[in-house]
Amino acid sequence: MKQILIPKLLRHKGQEKLTCLTGYDAFHATILDESSVDMILVGDTLGLMVQGHDSTLPVTLEEIIYHARIVTRCATTKLVLVDMPFGSLQADVALNVEQSIRVFKDSGAGALKMEGATSEILTTIRHLTPMGVPVCGHIGFQPQSVHLSGYKIDGKTLPDQQRLLEEAQRLQDAGCFAIVLECIVDEVAKLITQSVDMLTIGIGSGLGVDVQVLVLHDLLGMTTGRMPSFVRQYAQLQRTALAAVNDWVDDVRSLNYPSLGESYQNPNQSLKSSEEMSEKELAKTVKFP
Ligand code: KIV
Repeated sequence: MKQILIPKLLRHKGQEKLTCLTGYDAFHATILDESSVDMILVGDTLGLMVQGHDSTLPVTLEEIIYHARIVTRCATTKLVLVDMPFGSLQADVALNVEQSIRVFKDSGAGALKMEGATSEILTTIRHLTPMGVPVCGHIGFQPQSVHLSGYKIDGKTLPDQQRLLEEAQRLQDAGCFAIVLECIVDEVAKLITQSVDMLTIGIGSGLGVDVQVLVLHDLLGMTTGRMPSFVRQYAQLQRTALAAVNDWVDDVRSLNYPSLGESYQNPNQSLKSSEEMSEKELAKTVKFP
């Protein structure tokens, strides 16, 4: 197995920062596998970045498995985490365990990620970890619960801080090896990081976490619209791609594309039927490209 395994990643805690980016297809996975990033998350942000939805909620189990399979096929050296989508984890723990095992097995991922710290989620994790299924928790802002919570920064009050610390501890006790801290006040994220042995994977949660994660499309400028303030863009691929498409259309319209070198010419000046051609001439006509 070429994939980096969890014990090796855990050794970095408190030593040096780790990184994680989302990826949903072969293009992303190939780039990320070649990069120095440590983990890839096949997140349910798939719904927003790839499927054109306005939330993560419509993503199905089949869709996340389909995308995760592509990513694990193309990124063979990184730890790939896969999100359990909205509705796949409910009150029925036996069903949760069954669905989780299905995603783990069919996707080829190295770990599952689950939003929330309800008693059903904790019991599900308690069942899965002894079976060899690594689980990453997710607290703070949980996009799957956006209809109830709204978009909010968590950990601003003492009771919220206390609740977050307790949730992190419960997830660790249940068996999680890591936990996503999304949009949590920086000093609370730091406190959680210092209070657990798990890796804390922060997004919009400041410097004090073990691992920084971002959505690949945000980092590369592959999205339009308002960006959360924690995003730093390192490229403007949306703009570059739009300009490239428009340049090509202009070239086609002005007969500047294709050039002679981008077309195939008949090497024989006069057109002959295939019966009239020598074997050598015939071979030239099928030469490709
Ligand atoms: O689904 C996702 O991409 C995530 C990250 C934003 C952490 O959960």
